[in-house]
Amino acid sequence: MKILITAGPTREPLDPVRYLTNRSSGKMGYALAEAARDKGHEVTLISGPVVLAAPEGVSLIKVETAREMYEAVRDRMEGQNIAIFSAAVADYRPAAIAEQKIKKTGETLTLTLEKTEDILGSARRVFGFTGFLVGFAAETERLLEHAHDKLVRKGCDLVIANDVSRAGIGFDSAENEVTLCLPDASPFPLPRQSKAVLARELIAFITQQASLKKFP
Ligand code: PMT
Repeated sequence: MKILITAGPTREPLDPVRYLTNRSSGKMGYALAEAARDKGHEVTLISGPVVLAAPEGVSLIKVETAREMYEAVRDRMEGQNIAIFSAAVADYRPAAIAEQKIKKTGETLTLTLEKTEDILGSARRVFGFTGFLVGFAAETERLLEHAHDKLVRKGCDLVIANDVSRAGIGFDSAENEVTLCLPDASPFPLPRQSKAVLARELIAFITQQASLKKFP
């Protein structure tokens, strides 16, 4: 199958030396890409800035900002059987990028932010993606409620709910623990395990579910 995966954070520039970002290391997305490759799938990995080595045998596209990730996904969606959005994309970016380094003048500094492109939300509505669509939901409260909301609103076939309030799992950790949320089934929790082992389990589940769906 052809599988597109997003991974890592985005960086939203503020001035020539500063940016807004988050704690994503890319480990979850890269583990998914490697697990899919190991099963013989054709993998496109669209990655924000991370310090991980490029996985061999995977087509890697490096981006920085949410807008660049949106464009990279849009340009490569066609013909994909499965899309898995594990990237932690900035929801807001500075409305203006200062041309020069912002100087320390006042006691406080107020930033105006504007919404970024919703890549997962565009998959069905804008890109016309008809394959198997997988989103993640990184939440610090009401995990399953928010995950189910994303499942319905964004037209996903599966949302992987990730409690990012707990130490040792989620952002920038070697392990993860997630719950699978499907449209017509009870939430299915998976045990805490290394991201590599979890990724193999997720790819097995996703490809099995996707094979039951008609491909584009
Ligand atoms: O990278 P690691 O350090 O290994 O950490 C893994 C992880 C915690 C980042 C990963 O497991 C995870 O939960 N990824 C989703 C992070 C996130 O930003 O979730 P969200 O609930 O804010 O976004 C919901 C979904 O919409 C996600 O699939 C996200 O990729 C997507 N999204 C969000 C915003 C946006 N502008 N465009 C998007 O496509």
